[in-house]
Amino acid sequence: MMTRKRVLTAVIGAALTIGASASAFAATTLKLSHNHPRDHAVHKAMDHMAKEVRKLTDGDVRIRIYPDAQLGTQRESMELMQNGALDMVKTNAAELEAFAPAYSAFNLPYLFRDKAHYSNVKESAVGEDILASSRDSGFIGLTYYDAGARSFYTSKPINTPADLKGLKIRVQPSPSAINMVKALGGSPTPLAYGELYTALQQGVVDAAENNIPSFSLSRHSEVSKYYSLDEHTMVPDVLVISTKAYDGLSEENRKALKTAAMSSMELMKSLWTQSEEKERAKAEKMGVKFITPNKTAFVEAVQPMYDTLDESNPELSKVVERIKAVQ
Ligand code: GCU
Repeated sequence: MMTRKRVLTAVIGAALTIGASASAFAATTLKLSHNHPRDHAVHKAMDHMAKEVRKLTDGDVRIRIYPDAQLGTQRESMELMQNGALDMVKTNAAELEAFAPAYSAFNLPYLFRDKAHYSNVKESAVGEDILASSRDSGFIGLTYYDAGARSFYTSKPINTPADLKGLKIRVQPSPSAINMVKALGGSPTPLAYGELYTALQQGVVDAAENNIPSFSLSRHSEVSKYYSLDEHTMVPDVLVISTKAYDGLSEENRKALKTAAMSSMELMKSLWTQSEEKERAKAEKMGVKFITPNKTAFVEAVQPMYDTLDESNPELSKVVERIKAVQ
């Protein structure tokens, strides 16, 4: 005969087994695509987020990260997400401009007063409103990641906008980036990030613009030996999730996912600073010269982009005013 204690142990054991298999059965795995290598700071930050969300939901929500554009370019990944084949994409505000117009604000040159202003905007109400603005397009933003400032690089120093004249400059597929390069006197050439190394090497384009870690980790530093710190834009990386995947989670799991995303955004701040220093040193070792131009002429050349904004794009103009009002 079984003692009462043995019966209880057997019952609890069975309950645990059923519970465990039920929760394993219920686990949701979210597929996330991005175009950076595993040693990029943003991959490390998202890896942290994946561990956090798994912990916070007792294994209920898992994130599988596909780096290196294995699942396609940023644009292709966005389309896969909208078709339901992918759940999450780490992209950036320039790429998102075509999917949700409010992101354009981040692509306007010299909008942010300094790094603190840029950082505060990402964490402000207007920052959250931009993340939420794309619901009708089938996705929402979960968080921004610091991606520093973008500057021009090519085979000669760029000290003034006049040095950009006649250069074919690769830009992201963002109307604001195209307008900015035109305003500065260059010839904008939209191209996917993954095609840029060969394009620079073969002279399909003469120049490009990006932050220092992307410049170095993508090995563009092998083919462009001058990086001019004109710091025209501060374009954050953005983590987005399809509304289908997001709305399919329980409210508790949605909260856990947001908490994990915010925690990875915090971690990214220190990872980014370290990465900028490390990748600049690596590039210098490879013979890249870092130039510090006077920014005044660049700021003046892009001013027309703001002058008519009120009339040409009142919606964007309102977002810009809200951004300027952030302390
Ligand atoms: C940055 C950004 C990427 C983007 C790339 C680009 O590296 O992190 O998301 O694809 O710029 O210039 O295309």
